[in-house]
Amino acid sequence: MQTYKSQIKQAADFLKTPVGKSPRVGIITGTGLGESVGNFDILASFDYSRIPNFPLSTVTSHMGQVLIGKMGDTPVVVFQGRFHLYEGYSPLEVIFPVRVLQTLGVKTLILSNAAGGLNSGFRKGDIMLIRDHINLTGENPLVGHNEESWGLRFPDMISAYDKKLSQLTFQLGQESGLHLQTGIYAGLKGPSLETPAEIRYLKNIGADAVGFSTVMEVIAAVHAKINILAFSTITNINDPDNPRSANLEDIIKVAEAAAPKLESIISRVVARL
Ligand code: HPA
Repeated sequence: MQTYKSQIKQAADFLKTPVGKSPRVGIITGTGLGESVGNFDILASFDYSRIPNFPLSTVTSHMGQVLIGKMGDTPVVVFQGRFHLYEGYSPLEVIFPVRVLQTLGVKTLILSNAAGGLNSGFRKGDIMLIRDHINLTGENPLVGHNEESWGLRFPDMISAYDKKLSQLTFQLGQESGLHLQTGIYAGLKGPSLETPAEIRYLKNIGADAVGFSTVMEVIAAVHAKINILAFSTITNINDPDNPRSANLEDIIKVAEAAAPKLESIISRVVARL
């Protein structure tokens, strides 16, 4: 049986030729944001099913393909569609794309997701720069044998999200008339949405937004010493004093409507990397 490490190597080898020399930037997109890759010269694209050992995305709002190309002069690999714990994927499957990017030599990872807003200052359609996270999934992708060539046994999570990169992004947003919110993302396993009591709890522990992704990938990327920039599109507002049902169609609609803003800020940032 193949080891996880050899599976990753095989997947990275498959992408190496089309990728050419080391890509500097990797992007993993989430709900409704699959197309947030404006200003991007695509040189090659593959369905996930063609990449050896790659898990398949089961979520219909996710696209399940990898795009290889250039944003300006910067070589970029974009994974459109991610794997979630709630789909039944293991933490190692969820972080598979991150390990492939690490093996390809990526230095910066940009992540996007859809999230429910908890901060009372947030509005539907806002984009939040993730400043920090709270991992409430009960999982961790680094449990078990530590692959020393990939990273340390006990990686430091003190500055998981790159401060300089966030500041630059915030500033580039301001310059282009986009005000970015900033805040803390609580990562849950899902798939059931939060109860009013859970929403109150999440607010009390300091979370500004909640969702079912991103924290596994961030932990793996920190382990890999990859710089991280992450965005949440606030697709609905969770207020414990005025509980309202969030529906998936609405969430996708809001995420898609906000996508051009995200697309634009991502290309501005990548141009500066
Ligand atoms: N909760 C969890 N995940 C989400 C939400 C939410 O309210 N909105 C979008 N993704």
